[in-house]
Amino acid sequence: MFGPSLTGTHVRLRPVRITDLPRFSRWFADPAIVRHWWTQDVPWARWPLVAALLLVIGSLRPNAIVWVIEADGRPIGHSSLRHIDTRTRTATVAVLIGQTSEQRRGYAREAAALRNRFAVARLGLRTLKATALAENKASRGLMESSGYRLVRRTNTVIRGQERELLEFELALDQPGGGGA
Ligand SMILES: CC(C)(COP(=O)(O)OP(=O)(O)OC[C@H]1O[C@@H](n2cnc3c(N)ncnc32)[C@H](O)[C@@H]1OP(=O)(O)O)[C@@H](O)C(=O)NCCC(=O)NCCS
Repeated sequence: MFGPSLTGTHVRLRPVRITDLPRFSRWFADPAIVRHWWTQDVPWARWPLVAALLLVIGSLRPNAIVWVIEADGRPIGHSSLRHIDTRTRTATVAVLIGQTSEQRRGYAREAAALRNRFAVARLGLRTLKATALAENKASRGLMESSGYRLVRRTNTVIRGQERELLEFELALDQPGGGGA
């Protein structure tokens, strides 16, 4: 489903458009962006345009919302809520700053805070789940500095190599629970 536009101090979240496809495709073709995807063994992850198309199509699902993150009116990444379950009041989140020159400026954290406030106020969610490869320092750093709790460590095999996967949860009804 399409979420509303959400405006913060430095970033704005807006619904995905079909015209975003070439940009997503460019981001997904950048090894620096996709090197930590744990879906690397899935055939579509090797085809940036297909991965971009699946993201856009996925945004049409009734239990998912995908936003484009804009800074200074230009798209720099995306943020999503997937597996939204209003019965258990949970969802899975992801955030990506695909424009590498725009990383480490606080945009992911602000975009996630906007999304999380929406998740509480409009969807009534209580818990957000996120997964990252242990070696993904940026993603781990973002979650660890935003109040997420490490709930599970598992192993997965990607291209024949065993890698550690970390599963995090954020309690939105706790103090500080509006983080990334
Ligand atoms: C992870 C990612 C979304 C972070 O985006 P960002 O806009 O650069 O993050 P922010 O500037 O908002 O940083 C917020 C906090 O996250 C942590 N962080 C961000 N990048 C980091 C890095 N490279 N190393 C360690 N910690 C990092 C820090 O705690 C940071 O706070 P600080 O700058 O005050 O120290 C971005 O690096 C990215 O998209 N990476 C590629 C894709 C990816 O791995 N996505 C996640 C898996 S789905």
